[in-house]
Amino acid sequence: MSTSKSTGEWAKRRTYAIISHPDAGKTTLTENLLYAAGSIRLAGQVRARGENRRTRSDWMKIEQDRGISVSASVMTYEHKGLTFNLLDTPGHEDFSEDTYRTLTAADSAIMVLDAARGVEPRTLKLVEVCRLRDIPILTFINKLDREALAPEALLDDIQDKLALDTAPMQWPAASGQRFGGVMDLARNVFIPFRPEENEMSSGDPVPADQVGALLTDDVHEELTEGVDMARELCPPFKQQSYEEGHLTPVYFGSALRRFGIVELLDALAEVAPGPQNEKAVVKKTERVIAPDDKEVTGFVFKVQANMDPNHRDRVAFVRLSSGRFKRGMKLKTDKGRSLTVSSPIMFFAQDREIADEAFAGDVIGIPNHGLLRVGDSLSESGDVLFAGIPNFAPEILRRARLADPLKAKHLKKALESLAEEGVTQLFRPVIGGDFIVGAVGQLQIEVMAERVSAEYGIDVTFEAAPYETARWLSGPAAEIEKFGDRHKSAIAEDIDGDPVFLAKSSWEVGYSEEKWPDIAFLRAKERNR
Ligand code: G4P
Repeated sequence: MSTSKSTGEWAKRRTYAIISHPDAGKTTLTENLLYAAGSIRLAGQVRARGENRRTRSDWMKIEQDRGISVSASVMTYEHKGLTFNLLDTPGHEDFSEDTYRTLTAADSAIMVLDAARGVEPRTLKLVEVCRLRDIPILTFINKLDREALAPEALLDDIQDKLALDTAPMQWPAASGQRFGGVMDLARNVFIPFRPEENEMSSGDPVPADQVGALLTDDVHEELTEGVDMARELCPPFKQQSYEEGHLTPVYFGSALRRFGIVELLDALAEVAPGPQNEKAVVKKTERVIAPDDKEVTGFVFKVQANMDPNHRDRVAFVRLSSGRFKRGMKLKTDKGRSLTVSSPIMFFAQDREIADEAFAGDVIGIPNHGLLRVGDSLSESGDVLFAGIPNFAPEILRRARLADPLKAKHLKKALESLAEEGVTQLFRPVIGGDFIVGAVGQLQIEVMAERVSAEYGIDVTFEAAPYETARWLSGPAAEIEKFGDRHKSAIAEDIDGDPVFLAKSSWEVGYSEEKWPDIAFLRAKERNR
């Protein structure tokens, strides 16, 4: 679907995420994009806000200790008449589930690479996730102010490791101490790197044929050779290939020195797609929801507690998929629960504001006391069900053991709450009293343990459980019941009451699959289906 010809407010939305390997410069880039868009006054605020939050909330200590950011957020800014919603994805590997969920709400992504390192393991994983939904990717090669790999080597790296065609939109003039700026290949002008001249470090663009006067002979020669090669050998940028996720336009710069940031903002405004059609099921029939459909629809991709330490409220982040949302509107979940959205929040870099209206592509925060869960679909009719956000089979399972057995009810509430937020998964064995919590990574378990103690004041230990993984069971009810009877001690229910097989090893899963051919042992469960 092309959004370029569309006129509604929704067509002005650009909702995207930044993905990168830790340390490539995502935070610095976020900060400076917001700064360049005029959305924050001082660079440093994204981080400063994070630090303020950390000092207020105990469980954030983990973030501080590990120097990572685990809480995703959204920030809205305007540029060139468009409204950008920047979704922040957590950088740590253990949070891949959370990242996946966040990416379900994005229409495109910026991939940040460290120019000295190219594609790193985490980049690879994130691109795999983008590919599941064919999210278009725009590449920003960062840290050109440091010694970098040759641009052609970086492009090859992207092509080889990520199987993405690359269309360089710019070509850098050397790197590190000798970094002179970038040639804009489409406009055929050179943008000089001039950190001493202005805040954004870019001098006035110079026509390509005058660039010799600005650079030393060796840098000029390198640039000319590179530009000639790029023009001859690299595929030209094609909007359609980019939107289909086959080709990435590549930009160069330095987030720290604020070079190439405005160009990146402009590039996003020019090429990034707006809201797309989404597949849904309406009254058991598959249907496509278009962003300009009249009915307001959306889905919850994240639930966050702790946003205001004075309240126990949770905020559900809802990505709107269609319609014109108005404050005070009544929406229903696919489970038939209804709520009046009286104080929807929009998140700007400096403030949170009550949103009077919002459109497809926008993200609104809905404060609630636990009614909304990750994966919930919302609509006016309550009939719309978006393809679910999957839960992935946990790789770590722990048994929750209470110091004080009288606190069992409290613990149940705490663990359910955290599972609804999507922090960890929760399994209740059909025999035996202890809860089993599951996570894709160790850090999730640590975050949960800290929060159970800090927020709920419960003294609990998470012991190793005799299981290695879990599989959701799907198939004829009678077969599942029979399987359950034979494996009583290994059967649990997840938070939705669906049956789960807690397996001692992947070998056991394989063996069971052979023995019980009518049952599917699922690695991922799509909620809602
Ligand atoms: P992340 O969110 O992707 O993990 O990366 P972040 O922005 O935190 O950047 C990681 C490190 O790289 C930081 O240095 C940051 O200053 C540096 N950096 C980011 N962009 C550039 C760039 O364009 N050029 C150079 N030379 N460095 C860059 P740090 O020393 O780890 O942290 P800090 O003390 O500067 O905060």
